[in-house]
Amino acid sequence: MNYLEALSRRYSVKKFNPEMRIPQDVLLNILESGKLAASSLGLQPYKILVVESDEMKQKLIPAFYNPSQISTCSHLIVIISKKMIEEHYIQGYFNHISEVREVPIENLDLFRRSISQHVDLKTNDEIFNWAEKQSYIVLANLMYAAAIENIDTCPMEGFRQDVIEEILELDSEKEKVTVTLALGYRSEEDHFQHLKKVRKPNDKLFKFI
Ligand SMILES: Cc1cc2nc3c(=O)[nH]c(=O)nc-3n(C[C@H](O)[C@H](O)[C@H](O)COP(=O)(O)O)c2cc1C
Repeated sequence: MNYLEALSRRYSVKKFNPEMRIPQDVLLNILESGKLAASSLGLQPYKILVVESDEMKQKLIPAFYNPSQISTCSHLIVIISKKMIEEHYIQGYFNHISEVREVPIENLDLFRRSISQHVDLKTNDEIFNWAEKQSYIVLANLMYAAAIENIDTCPMEGFRQDVIEEILELDSEKEKVTVTLALGYRSEEDHFQHLKKVRKPNDKLFKFI
């Protein structure tokens, strides 16, 4: 499918067909697109949780203000941002670069120190704001890939932070749920699929300079 056709067909689903599950190979392709997302300094300051069990989806229902997507979706992705970047996290990143690119770790020392300094200059609030922004790039990649794969989605921020964190047993000192993405197949009963898209006209959105 042409990418503009796929993006025009995409809409934020309110009700999925609960009988239909995304095949594993398609799901893994979509997840790969999240993995390939760009991130500042390459640090990927997030985790991507994939909720596939019906039991966990049921548990999560009370965390959402509008749970119709959660009770009907095939899978729910939860993107969790880091609230702090610890020195051992940076070290782990550099060990990984050294391994993947087969370069001695000492060759990366200058870059590693510049990243540590950059991170040290930020408060934990700044780190979290920065980490959250990276999470939305993952979200966009996942939504885009899903649209191309003909998989429907709904991005969702409408959840109770404390409830979702408790259910997922997160360490709230260190991490926070940024955004979630329900995936599946649109239900024929979901009338939102028939609504026209409302977007700013080009002259209000774009400015060519
Ligand atoms: C970050 C983000 C969070 C959103 N949160 C919710 C949500 O909690 N519940 C919901 O039904 N839709 C949610 N939406 C969907 C938007 O309402 C929707 O994208 C917008 O109205 C445009 O409609 P469309 O996606 O169908 O084109 C969210 C969208 C984004 C990008």
